[in-house]
Amino acid sequence: MNQPTDPRRKFRITGLCDLERFARCLAVVLKPGDVLLLSGDLGAGKTTLTKKIARELGVDENEVSSPSFTLVNIYEEGRIPLVHADLYRLGPGADLSEIGIVDAIGEEAILIVEWAEYGQGAFGAEALEILLEWVDEERRDLTLRPMGATWEARVPSLAPCMGSEGAPGHSPSILRKKWPGV
Ligand SMILES: Nc1ncnc2c1ncn2[C@@H]1O[C@H](COP(=O)(O)OP(=O)(O)O)[C@@H](O)[C@H]1O
Ligand SMILES: [Mg+2]
Repeated sequence: MNQPTDPRRKFRITGLCDLERFARCLAVVLKPGDVLLLSGDLGAGKTTLTKKIARELGVDENEVSSPSFTLVNIYEEGRIPLVHADLYRLGPGADLSEIGIVDAIGEEAILIVEWAEYGQGAFGAEALEILLEWVDEERRDLTLRPMGATWEARVPSLAPCMGSEGAPGHSPSILRKKWPGV
């Protein structure tokens, strides 16, 4: 039941080049204080997308590793500092005070959170939610859900980078169960 004004966006990326292209467009509109909330199963590409965004910010992507054990990694060498968190190990209902990332919101850094759904909405009203879904070895479906006025305004500018294969059409029911409203 997507309306023309529906701020959600879903598209398919067909490989790492496509992901890089999306990351490049996204990085152009990123500014300090932004929050990107990544969801999707293990192997969906959350860390890989973070690496590509980091690269666009001027960080060596080979230096970017999954913070599954450290919970938070900070990269300060790019044009905007990047805080990269992974809530997987904290589990559902994660107590974010343990890792202090909520304090980082609205500061000078960009915050990217993997397994953001475990944070249960602790990230404020302004964020870009990105759901990644595995299609096959190389392809992923991405769904963008802009939260708040600034992301609703920025997401349309990402349209030229939303995949090379075209929209995959309606979401399967399994996705709707996992991500109500998509
Ligand atoms: N189009 C794609 N987008 C993202 N990852 C991809 C893509 N194609 C292949 N991959 C591979 O899938 C794996 C995704 O792993 P990772 O980013 O660690 O997932 P997650 O952080 O979601 O658990 C990486 O090995 C990556 O190289
Ligand atoms: Mg990861």
